Amino acid sequence: MSSETIGQQRLARRMARGAEFLGCEVAILGGAMSWVSERNLVSAISNAGGFGVIACGAMTPALLDAEIAATRALTDKPFGVNLITMHPDLFELIEVCKRHQVSHVVLAGGLPPAGSLDAIKANGARLICFAPALALAKKLIRSGVDALVIEGMEAGGHIGPVSTSVLAQEMLPEIADQLPVFVAGGIGKGQAIAGYLDMGAAGVQLGTRFVCATESIAHANFKKAFIRASARDAVASVQIDARLPVIPVRALKNAGTEAFTVKQREVAQKLDEGQVEMAEAQLEIEHYWAGALRRAVIDGDVENGSLMAGQSVGMVKDEAPVAEIIATLMAEAAEALNARAQ
Ligand SMILES: Cc1cc2nc3c(=O)[nH]c(=O)nc-3n(C[C@H](O)[C@H](O)[C@H](O)COP(=O)(O)O)c2cc1C
Repeated sequence: MSSETIGQQRLARRMARGAEFLGCEVAILGGAMSWVSERNLVSAISNAGGFGVIACGAMTPALLDAEIAATRALTDKPFGVNLITMHPDLFELIEVCKRHQVSHVVLAGGLPPAGSLDAIKANGARLICFAPALALAKKLIRSGVDALVIEGMEAGGHIGPVSTSVLAQEMLPEIADQLPVFVAGGIGKGQAIAGYLDMGAAGVQLGTRFVCATESIAHANFKKAFIRASARDAVASVQIDARLPVIPVRALKNAGTEAFTVKQREVAQKLDEGQVEMAEAQLEIEHYWAGALRRAVIDGDVENGSLMAGQSVGMVKDEAPVAEIIATLMAEAAEALNARAQ
């Protein structure tokens, strides 16, 4: 036997299924983050033994094509591509993934549209979907997805209403024996990874924890905001008028957050006064944050841009190489498992 500690052996055993599914050493997915999860961060995560995922976001098929090729040039390890179901060119994007023989496609943004599941799987790729509730998880399993991510409302970006701990308790005992399930949202330390693995997870997905990686191209201002922030600064967007739906997004509070509230009030008032039609008013709200994540991540406008971040942001203390972040998480998880009875 090697000099591995009992904790490391237990961790390797608990991660074996997830790692085998992903084709990597460590069952930690780098959750796709629009603008952040591009060639540099994705290849760094895969090179460090984890599983990087390119965030396609609103990229055109040509841009995705170039991003996959550039990522491949930086790593010979497997990585995935995250596609958003609402993208108008979804099927072209699936074709791009096929051309590059991308091994794993993650579909975000709701149930897979008709035909997309078959198109992805026909390519030989493995399909990972988000399951926001048990009933939907069962439906997705029946339709043939290969793995699921369950993501709680502690996460950064677009969120559902239920916390990770509740989703894990409700869903893992029911589905973890049927396919690999990865737990996401609010994970900042290895102790939590050990906990979810013990509950039956095949692995985990982290986003916020990787934003300040040395390899991440996020603007220095964006990284600084993360390093300064505590958990309570990462708040979900608030809807103030029942007529004007706001999709909840978790992000750090800034001037843009305040301005969004003012905007909603103004638009609601215009509606009251009959100055705008409902559809136009709703679009004005929907488009408010358009381009805002790019403004913050790429241009460094941390006042008015969107600082999408999860509650685990309080555990991001400094900039560090991806390999070091993963090594720390694994050491913490192994230490926690060392203390287990078996
Ligand atoms: C800045 C940022 C951008 C994100 N963009 C996306 C995205 O484009 N697609 C997606 O499926 N998830 C997106 N997410 C969610 C992550 O993939 C991941 O599931 C989430 O960050 C996990 O929770 P954590 O932040 O608590 O680790 C984003 C998260 C952040 C923080």
